[in-house]
Amino acid sequence: MGTRRPPDRRLPTHIYVRRRIAVGVGVILAVVLATTLIGRLFGAGGDALLDTTTLATPTTTTIPAPPPCTTGDLVISEDPATAWATVVVDTARRLPATYAPDDLVPAADAGFAVGEGVLVRSFLIADLRALRQAAADNGTPVTMLAAYRSFDQQQQILDLRIAEFGEDEALRRAARAGHSEHQLGTTVDLTSEGLTDVDQAWGASPTGEWVATNAHRFGFIVTYPEGAEALTCYTYEPWHLRYVGRNLATEVTASGLTLREYLYAFHPPLGVTGPEG
Ligand code: DAL
Ligand code: ZN
Repeated sequence: MGTRRPPDRRLPTHIYVRRRIAVGVGVILAVVLATTLIGRLFGAGGDALLDTTTLATPTTTTIPAPPPCTTGDLVISEDPATAWATVVVDTARRLPATYAPDDLVPAADAGFAVGEGVLVRSFLIADLRALRQAAADNGTPVTMLAAYRSFDQQQQILDLRIAEFGEDEALRRAARAGHSEHQLGTTVDLTSEGLTDVDQAWGASPTGEWVATNAHRFGFIVTYPEGAEALTCYTYEPWHLRYVGRNLATEVTASGLTLREYLYAFHPPLGVTGPEG
């Protein structure tokens, strides 16, 4: 009976009991640890026997698909002057014909070698300058081919494309008047310094790849990525960047969604309650 408590104990009873409990817990922990180690050492059978962990049920989030790319003329309800980051402008939804931002400034203020008539909203300048500088520092300098376009200028662009490609193809490449993100004053077309026109193949060039990978760090999203025409409503435009601010651009990029998908899912247009709009 060597484990029994000697009658001439010197510890108070409550401390003695606590110590017995501590020893008991220690023994149990040691046994659990030992059996776990043995289980690990002897493979899956041991694990299966010992592993009582309940795996969390995987959860998935279903992102609603954006509406199909229908041709419509729904004038947006949002104020584009303030909802510039999240307003959906696509083949169905358009800006008011008279809308023009009241804070347009020359993109030359961001260091681009463009004429005074190439304009962007003033709050883009700092990030546009940072993007331009980072591209140059990377050895892939960019230049600007287009920025703000008025309703009428967009009509002229589309007319030129129709003359060049025919109506069906033109409408895959250029927005109808009121339907262009360029009218927001937050959208620019960039290419490599020295080039004077856009080209889908540019997307695979070092500069195009740098822009695709890094634009979001400066608040810009490639609105019309490759292979997503059914979702974006337009053919691939690696040069076309819409500014949505650094936070939103990072979220959109992390989501893996196109901007149109993301906006319909997380910033649905006012009055839209379902995919039909
Ligand atoms: N090229 C794009 C779709 C535009 O015209 O805004
Ligand atoms: Zn563009």
